[in-house]
Amino acid sequence: MNAPLIRRPFDVEALRAQFPILAREANGRALVYLDNAASAQKPDAVIEAMAAQMRGAYANVHRGLHTLANETTEAFEAARSKVARFINAPTPESIVFTKGGTQAINIVAAGLDIKPGDEIVLSVMEHHSNIVPWHFLRERKGAVLRWLDIDDDGGIDLGALDALIGPRTKLVAITHMSNVLGTKTPAAEIARVAHAKGAKVLFDGCQAAVHDRVDVQAIDADFYVFTGHKLYGPTGIGVLYGKRDVLAAMAPFEGGGEMIDVVERERVTYNEPPHRFEAGTPPIIEAIGLGAAIDWLTSQDRAAIATHEAALRDRAMAALRELNWVKLHGAAPEKGAIVAFSVVGAHPHDVAQILDRQGVAIRAGHHCAQPLMERLGVTATARASFACYNRLAEVDALIEALHKARKLLS
Ligand SMILES: Cc1ncc(COP(=O)(O)O)c(C=O)c1O
Repeated sequence: MNAPLIRRPFDVEALRAQFPILAREANGRALVYLDNAASAQKPDAVIEAMAAQMRGAYANVHRGLHTLANETTEAFEAARSKVARFINAPTPESIVFTKGGTQAINIVAAGLDIKPGDEIVLSVMEHHSNIVPWHFLRERKGAVLRWLDIDDDGGIDLGALDALIGPRTKLVAITHMSNVLGTKTPAAEIARVAHAKGAKVLFDGCQAAVHDRVDVQAIDADFYVFTGHKLYGPTGIGVLYGKRDVLAAMAPFEGGGEMIDVVERERVTYNEPPHRFEAGTPPIIEAIGLGAAIDWLTSQDRAAIATHEAALRDRAMAALRELNWVKLHGAAPEKGAIVAFSVVGAHPHDVAQILDRQGVAIRAGHHCAQPLMERLGVTATARASFACYNRLAEVDALIEALHKARKLLS
């Protein structure tokens, strides 16, 4: 007989203890780190895995015939398999290691066959990483960008998306979770609408992959992109998932070692994906660190983490709604633990600086989402973004710090 599954209550303190940096102070105050959408802190498991690899088995990958090269290659390719399992990719060959989410999107933009007049559909709440590569195609290849608006809560309308996609639409490139409004987009439905008209779909999962289980096959993504450093992993590593036939039809992004098949004086042929898109020495230790971050995250109770993060979001939104001198941005029914707001009459940078003096780290600015700022009618906002290790009491610290900021700024 199987032992009954015992669900332990979510223990945020036990989780925090695994993140050494959270014990430090900022400006003489206990650190309250609420800038997780920009980058998350790292657990010991990640720090140790990277150090252990460098101490114990380090060499370049794929090229060597010696023990260290083989061991490092094995660890690097094992990380690729972990990434594939993490997003339920059908095969590790669908996983391209990149230096971040930004590079992953640039690889797609550079690799697609775009003719003048071909269209890319994107939403107004995209991060610049999912805008500027498409502007390159507009400038360099005559592509046309078509913009999907959001409603006042930050939601999107599938009917409006459907109406935007035409016979020239090559790609719908859209966030899976907004880094400003927290809006989660209905990925499977978006893919269905795009595919019905013959367009491919790219999801920017840099935020969503951290908080939600992603199944690229269930949502039928042609491309799915995320980045390591927001997922409790290191910087310098990101992921481009692509369907194998879609990747195989794409031109390479950069030229160099490892991405070729044959190089002659007058001819070059290219390697199969994923290696076609991994020119030069890849971010080896970073990929292994990302694998460790995935191991760490998937060993946690992700459902309990999701409930905890929703509680953080709800507590923050409820408290901010009480303040008639604060305006909240983004209240879509499906929303992650990212809360953008403005303090009426104060510049978000001033607010963030005063909060920092109280140990509270938030982000202020345009969040690399200027078209969204224009849509919201602001030039910048403040943003508190939560991670699994944030305490509910840290929301209270945020609100208390905001009261002080308001006093100083009014
Ligand atoms: C939604 C979204 N997309 C893309 C990126 C870019 O990721 P990276 O800076 O790791 O390349 C970010 C980072 O802020 C993001 O939040």
